[in-house]
This record gives sequence, structure tokens and C-alpha cells, in this order.
Amino acid sequence: MNKDQQYRNQAELEVKANQKNVIDDAYYPSYHVAPPVGLINDPNGLIQWNGTYHLFYQWMPFKTGHGSKFWGHLSSANLVDWTRHAAALTPSDWFDKDGVYSGSAIEKDDQLYLFYTGNVKTDDIRDAYQCLATSTDGIHFEKEGVQISVPEGFTAHFRDPKVWKKDDKYYMVIGAQTIEEKGTVVGFESFDLKRWEFNGVLAGGFGYMWECPDFFTLDGADILLFSPQGLEADGIDYQNVHQSGYISGKLDYQNWHFDHGDFTELDRGFEFYAPQTTEDVYGRRILIGWMGVPDQDEELHPTHENKWIHQLTLPRELHVRSGHIFQKPVEELKDLREKTLYDGDVTALLELDITRSAEVNIHEIDDEKLHIDLFDYATIDFNKSDRTITLTRPRLDGNGLEKRVGKLREPLNSIQAYIDHSSLEIFVNDGELVFSSRIFAAVEDKGLTVKTNAHLKVYALRSMLGR
Ligand code: FRU
Repeated sequence: MNKDQQYRNQAELEVKANQKNVIDDAYYPSYHVAPPVGLINDPNGLIQWNGTYHLFYQWMPFKTGHGSKFWGHLSSANLVDWTRHAAALTPSDWFDKDGVYSGSAIEKDDQLYLFYTGNVKTDDIRDAYQCLATSTDGIHFEKEGVQISVPEGFTAHFRDPKVWKKDDKYYMVIGAQTIEEKGTVVGFESFDLKRWEFNGVLAGGFGYMWECPDFFTLDGADILLFSPQGLEADGIDYQNVHQSGYISGKLDYQNWHFDHGDFTELDRGFEFYAPQTTEDVYGRRILIGWMGVPDQDEELHPTHENKWIHQLTLPRELHVRSGHIFQKPVEELKDLREKTLYDGDVTALLELDITRSAEVNIHEIDDEKLHIDLFDYATIDFNKSDRTITLTRPRLDGNGLEKRVGKLREPLNSIQAYIDHSSLEIFVNDGELVFSSRIFAAVEDKGLTVKTNAHLKVYALRSMLGR
């Protein structure tokens, strides 16, 4: 049996042996993507292909820690209900033996092309190869080996290719570190997705490494998304161990010069990293992120004992308004609404029991004051004087509280929150600010307290099909 088959069999055995423990965990999500066993991190290869959405992800099936990653694979007709497939790629070759690391998907001539980074570590020496795998059926992937090696001037922290097409050319961005240990994103171009020419640095200069770049044009703006490492906390900004955000401006493709503004974080929550986008046939720019941060209290998650860790965010539709990215849960998620639990006004105070799988909508908020308490665990507060929203939760090590703060540009108007057992995604003012976080509240706690004057609508949400 070859190594690939061996890895596949071992992974499926691992899934079978632990399925019950994993899914029965009261913290396991019912409508978010989470690992069938083991660890999930970055979303990869997000694409709508022949009408079906495909989502791949960094997967470690054998433990709840990082290591030689596989590409897990799911597909969906509606971005809501996901079907799990066998792993798309396993770390079975010399060029990816220590991990089939992150990458992206693109279609050409009816084939699906997956570009990923082959991670190789030998006696503490790291190497990185940008590799290709192709498929004609979207299920079985044939590795085509190394396409790009690390160019001069960069360390082996060179990974996460994201590919797109503009006019008659293909472009690729890669997260990189210069030999001076500065974070950058570099670019390549190609006419055929096979022969790649190095275009050089697209942006860079702060932090020691930029991971998971993505580049797209939306509402007239060119956007470079990336996850920089090595930024110091600064006031309410950069509070997580590693960040994720964007710079926007105009890319001169001819001269490979990106004229851009300052870096803005994409999400204000405790857990968000390595997002990836795709454009679907309706022209929507859809983003999914990892609801986790590398090296940030991962060992403190209570789900290790049930052999799984982390989950992805919901798919969000992006728009750019006045130079800022707005993120809204995709329209299709309304299909999760199973039952209305509450629909009425809140005058000053409302307390009710909800479910651990719920959507909470607060509209027409009287922005004099707002305080929300969820499951006696997380609180959300609005401070009108500086227009800040503060999310507070207990520190994962149990020592006191921690908070994340976001500042609105517009008056507070609405809050939409998705709750899924151990996660909370808050969309403020139709996506002007978003907070994505894990919440490990006592599992029997169902209490929601809302203090403001507003209209409140709460839905109980169903599980995704195929879970
Ligand atoms: C980001 C990241 C990527 C890498 C992958 C490995 O979380 O470190 O840069 O490709 O995870 O799993």
C-alpha cells in the first residue's frame, strides 16, 4: 500500500474511532465547520466549481495539535449544509512530507487546480515548495509536484499561494519572510498555471512574517488580505497573538506596484485568523476564516479531551464602503432558522432562555446604552461617548476576564449574533465591525440578558445537514 493510501486509511480509522465522542461533545458546533476528529486550522481552496462550493481545510487527524497537515474536504450546494469527503491531499510525498500546507483553488479547462505549500522539515532545516494538484471530478486529486521554489532573498517561511485570474493572465500571491526577517507578500504570474514568473514584493515592511495572503478587487478597491505575525499590541488594536487584516488601494499590474493605505484588522474578536475568499457565480466575494489563532491559548481549549479542536467561521459576504470592508453572513444562512424564540420590543431589560444554537438580532437600538450578557459568560457593551463596542469573556486559563474592543464609525444601529454551542460571531451595524470568538460557557447555561431599548428577534437554528 502506498503512503497516501496508508494515511487515508489511518485518518478514516481515526474519524470512526472518535466520531461519537467528538460529535456528542456539548461544545461541538451544529452548523459551523469543525474537524471530524483532530485539529482544524486555515480554510483552503474555497471555490464554487460547476455550481458546487468546495471548501478544503488544514487538518491534523491524529492529534489536537499542529503537525503534518492534510487537506480535509467538504462540499456544499448552499454554503450552509456541508458534506464531508475523504481528504483531498495527504502529506505523502517528499515535497510535502511535513505538511500539505495552506493554499487555494482555481478552475482552468474544466479542471480544478489546487496550489498549496509543501512543508519539509529535516533536522530543523525548513524548506517550502509551492505545489500543484489537479482534479477532473472535484473528489480525486492528482499531485503534479513542485512548481515554484523559494527565490533568493527570502527564508523558507514562504507559503500559502493564492491564485486568481485577471484578463488573460494568472497571478499568485505568497506569504513570505525576507532574509532580514521582515514580513512580506510576493507575487508571481503565469499564462498557463504551469510556468510562473517572479514579480517580486507586492507589500511588506512590518512584522516578521505575513501568512495566508489573498488578493481581490471589490467595489472598485484592490484589497490585499493577510495575517501578519509579530505586531505589538497598540491600544485597542493587535490584541491577539497574531493578526489578520487588509490594506486597500490600487495595484498597477504592469509594474507590480501596489499603492495602498494602512493596515486594518478584519475582525475584533478573540479568535480569527487566516481567512480566505472566493468569488462565486453571483459575483459575491465570500470569506471564511479560521476561528482560532496560532499559539494563542490553544492548549487551554476544553475540547482536547474529546479529541477535536477549533472550527471555522460562517461564510460572509464582503463589501467595501468608504475604503472599509464590511462583512455580512451570507443570505443562505437564513435557511438555518428553525423556530422564532422571541420577536418583540425590549424596553430597558429583557431576560430569556435561548438555545445554544441561535441567531440573535437586535435592531433599532437606542444607542444611549447597550449591555448584553450571554450564558453568564460573555458580555457585550456599547459606550456611546467613544462609540466603542467591548466584548468580554473569562480568560481561558480561568484567571480573570479579557476583552476586545472595536470602534464604530457610524452610530450603533444593529447587532446580529450567531451562537453555536461554543462560538459567537457578532456583526455590528450590518458588518461594520465583526467579533469572532469561542465561548466555553457552562453547557447548561442558556440565559440571554439584553439591556437597551430595541427590537429583538431570536431564532433557534437547526443543525447543518450532513454533519
Ligand atoms: C496559518 C498557517 C499557514 C500554514 C498553515 C499550516 O495558520 O501557519 O501559514 O500554511 O497554517 O497549517
